[in-house]
Amino acid sequence: MQHERLIASDANEDIVALEQRYLAPTYKRAPVVFVRGEGVHLIDAEGNKYLDFLAGIAVNVLGYNDPDILAAIDTQSRRLLHVSNLFHTVPHALLARDLCESSFADRIFFCNSGTEANEGALKFSRKKARAIQPEKTEIVAFSNAFHGRTMGALAVTANPRYREPFEPLAGGVKWAAFNDEASAREAIGKNTAAVIVEPVQGEGGIIPATPEFLRLLRALCDKFQAALIFDEVQCGLGRTGKLWAHEHFGVTPDIMTLAKPLGGGLPIGAVLMTQAVADALEAGDHGSTFAASPFVTYVARAVFSKIHDAEFMENVQRTGQHLKAALESLTGPVAEVRGLGMMWGVRLEASVTAADVVAACLKRGLVIGSAGDNTLRIVPPLVIEEHHVREAVDVIGQSLKAPVPA
Ligand SMILES: Cc1ncc(COP(=O)(O)O)c(C=O)c1O
Repeated sequence: MQHERLIASDANEDIVALEQRYLAPTYKRAPVVFVRGEGVHLIDAEGNKYLDFLAGIAVNVLGYNDPDILAAIDTQSRRLLHVSNLFHTVPHALLARDLCESSFADRIFFCNSGTEANEGALKFSRKKARAIQPEKTEIVAFSNAFHGRTMGALAVTANPRYREPFEPLAGGVKWAAFNDEASAREAIGKNTAAVIVEPVQGEGGIIPATPEFLRLLRALCDKFQAALIFDEVQCGLGRTGKLWAHEHFGVTPDIMTLAKPLGGGLPIGAVLMTQAVADALEAGDHGSTFAASPFVTYVARAVFSKIHDAEFMENVQRTGQHLKAALESLTGPVAEVRGLGMMWGVRLEASVTAADVVAACLKRGLVIGSAGDNTLRIVPPLVIEEHHVREAVDVIGQSLKAPVPA
């Protein structure tokens, strides 16, 4: 096959050139072609091995080649891939039950991605609010938030660089400052349909909400009969050392959105909701051809059953503590280390750019990312061990001293 030939010959250049020639130029990709994953490592076309502390942007929670994921793929791919949402399927029903019974939720809507999950959450909360009062349509969103790239989710995403080229976006959004109680009080009122917030902001630079802030949002949503939406697309499903990030804060939402890790690398999103939200919905309100197929839900259930385990979660907490301590011991141009569990941001001083440090790490065999305000993003597979932490933080330390231009 042609791609095998390309991989065998000097693949990096050939594949990079092909992608640059044929793909729409919406991404700035690093000049590496990954061809295989093994445990918590990635292998490129030239056989180089990289320790992966990005996990496909907080997706590959069980790393690569997890035997339970592979077995689930094998089993269900032979049974049934897709039939549409016009029919019932076994994996769909069982995953819905498992997620609801492990959370605050009574009902669930499946979709294919994080942005779609947020589209669903916004639509459902608007529908519920309209039934209370027709003018109750406003959505309150926060500075620095990231909720996705489709027109509705983009309308509640703060970064002007992502928004402005595509305006006008969905209307009715009111902005408040993240972690600012006075600003939230000002924005939320009788016309608020929903408040959407990440308990730990991801793309914005790995910034946890304060418990007081989330508690206030809960109280204001109760007072004004608005839906509180927690976007746990990045911080949910064990990433923070608890199954749901909001468990750290003692605040429960009306709606929670999930995606990234749920399929263990396959695309799936979910909108979890209370019965009160579901009561506003009826057949035909929302839908998706692919979401979620029996194939993807079968695999997601294998992923979920591994994460939803006390011993697994204790391990995430323990390794997360090591990761925190190791990052906090970094010397050099580090302004702040922030995060929870296995979700960390290292904000850098202005003397060095995060992109250069990320590139330097890659050259030294470590994959990390960047986010927000000149911040390194560290979201490894949840199955890393302590020696991986030592190795990764050592490479980050070297790269802070000798960054290379991206
Ligand atoms: C908190 C949050 N919400 C939504 C999204 C959008 O998810 P997707 O890229 O799957 O559409 C992301 C993606 O990074 C995210 O971090």
